[in-house]
Order: sequence, then C-alpha cells, then structure tokens
Amino acid sequence: MDAIVQAGPLRHFLQFRDFSHDEILYVLDRARLIKDKFKRYQPHHTLHDRTLAMVFEKASTRTRVSFEAGMYQLGGSVIHLTTTDSQLGRSEPIEDTARVVSRMVDIVMIRTFEQTRLERFASHSRVPVINGLTNEFHPCQILADIFTFIEHRGDIKGKTVAWIGDANNMAYTWLQAAEILGFTLHVSAPNGYHLEADRTGNPNSSILREFDDPLEACKGAHLVTTDVWTSMGYEDENEERRKAFADWRVDQEMMDVADPNAIFMHCLPAHRGEEVTGEVIDGPQSVVWDEAENRLHVQKALMEFLILGPLEA
Ligand code: CP
Ligand code: NVA
Repeated sequence: MDAIVQAGPLRHFLQFRDFSHDEILYVLDRARLIKDKFKRYQPHHTLHDRTLAMVFEKASTRTRVSFEAGMYQLGGSVIHLTTTDSQLGRSEPIEDTARVVSRMVDIVMIRTFEQTRLERFASHSRVPVINGLTNEFHPCQILADIFTFIEHRGDIKGKTVAWIGDANNMAYTWLQAAEILGFTLHVSAPNGYHLEADRTGNPNSSILREFDDPLEACKGAHLVTTDVWTSMGYEDENEERRKAFADWRVDQEMMDVADPNAIFMHCLPAHRGEEVTGEVIDGPQSVVWDEAENRLHVQKALMEFLILGPLEA
C-alpha cells in the first residue's frame, strides 16, 4: 500500500518558476490569511498529523525555525536531519535517502549545495520537495520578500528592485520572480561576479538591467536589496571577495537616490559594514525583521498548497 495519499499530482518547489503567476499569487494570498490568524492566536491546523522532514546540508537559523515552527503551527510534526547526524554523511546516495524518507513523511524541505542534488532527491521522492536554499536558488526567501514588499508597498508588478552585490542564489531567484510577476530587476555586481548569460537567457530590459555602478542601479528603485558577499560553500574565496565587493556596500547614499518610498531588504544573516551599513539595515527604510518573520507565514501557505492543493478560504 502506498504510504502517502496526495490531493493531486505531485508538485515540488525547487525553483521559483516551478509555480505559475496565479499559483504564486494564491500562495501569497493564503499566507496573508494564515498570518492574520496567527496574529489573532487562532488555530489553523490544516496539516494535522502530517510530517515534514527537513534535511540540512548547510547551516541555518531562519529556515530551520520558520519551517519547524510553521509545521507545528499547522498541526503537524517535524523531523530534522543534517548531513553529520544522518547516513548522508556516510555516503548513502541521495536517491536512496529520498526513496526512504519520502515513504515515511508527507513533505520534505532540503537545504543543500548543487541544484542537481536537490533535483535528484525530488525525482526519487513520493512527496513534495521544497528548496530551502541551494547554490543556485533560494525560492522560499523570495516568496517571503515579495510578500513583505506587498505588505509594505502594495503590488510589485511594474516596480523596480535593485540587487546590489553578488549575483548569487538570491539574485537568480529574483530574476525568475521578475519574469513571472512583471517587475524590473536592476543588478549591479563587480567584475567576475555578474549574472551568467547562459543562466539568465536574454530577458528584455523591462525585466533585467545590469549596471556597473551600484548607485546607478539604485536610482528610482522601489526596493533596494543585497546579501552577503560570500555565500555558504564559497568561504575559500572570502578574502578576494572582500576586496572585489568593497564598493558594493549598500549605504544611505544609495538609499537616497532610490524612490523616496524605497524600502531595504536583506535575507539575513547580515554583516554590518560589509554588504550594508548599520545605518541602512537598522534605519527607517529597512524591513528586514518583517521579511524574516514572513518566512514563517509564506512557507506555511507553501506547505499547505503542496500537500493539499488550493483550498477555499
Ligand atoms: N535567510 C535565510 O535563509 O536564513 P538562514 O540561513 O538562517 O536559514
Ligand atoms: N546567499 C546566501 C544566503 C543565505 C541565506 C548563501 O547562500 O549563503
């Protein structure tokens, strides 16, 4: 007998574009309802008796807490695995891990290195798999960031988001979101750290514009955002990156040339004095704490959608 009964065809969230425009909007709407109930201490146990397995092959604070708290709040339970305390650390193939774990739980979240490793897990899984960050993408974070933008400033369609710094997993996910939701992404990165054309395709200038000067990229932007100069897995490059990124620190001058109502986001963890000044991240335009909290609400909506499909209010 199959262990798991799916509401519909098996779906995963491995990258942002795995969902259509309407599906993203549904999840964001649902997150609004779930957040409102959470703030009123109203139970919302749509995943009663369901189990989430979380597999972490890299460190985490927000992703772990938001998925774990979120699943408990939905009435389910959680299993936390890391490379070192599971057989993954003793070379059990990812495919075998997927086959076994997915016979016992209802949904899996993985944070790992290459996107292909996540894809290998998903293709051997009987249950939905969520990308909790890979070298290539961080779709749950961008879901939370867009929810946060909408909360603070309304519809993101037609707006401009300025990405300053490393063209990393966050930047590529922002680009997918821009294509799906219809906003413009300005990217400014130092030489050697630009977006790669073979990964971006050739999006038109209403979706993507690249700038050598980070100040130019911020001009008129409705959201200015950045991330660490050295992502997890690239620590050996730390020193050379510090030198290369020195002029890509988001400061008040950059915020001042953005739209007068511009907000600042950072997925966190942040390094004040490196990619952003303390003045900006701790200043009045920063919404980073709302952004971090919103991981909880959007991921509850995401897990619900992947397990149960779309629900009536
Ligand atoms: N933003 C984010 O994913 O944070 P963690 O690395 O703490 O999970
Ligand atoms: N780009 C960063 C995001 C951390 C949440 C990394 O991959 O380490």
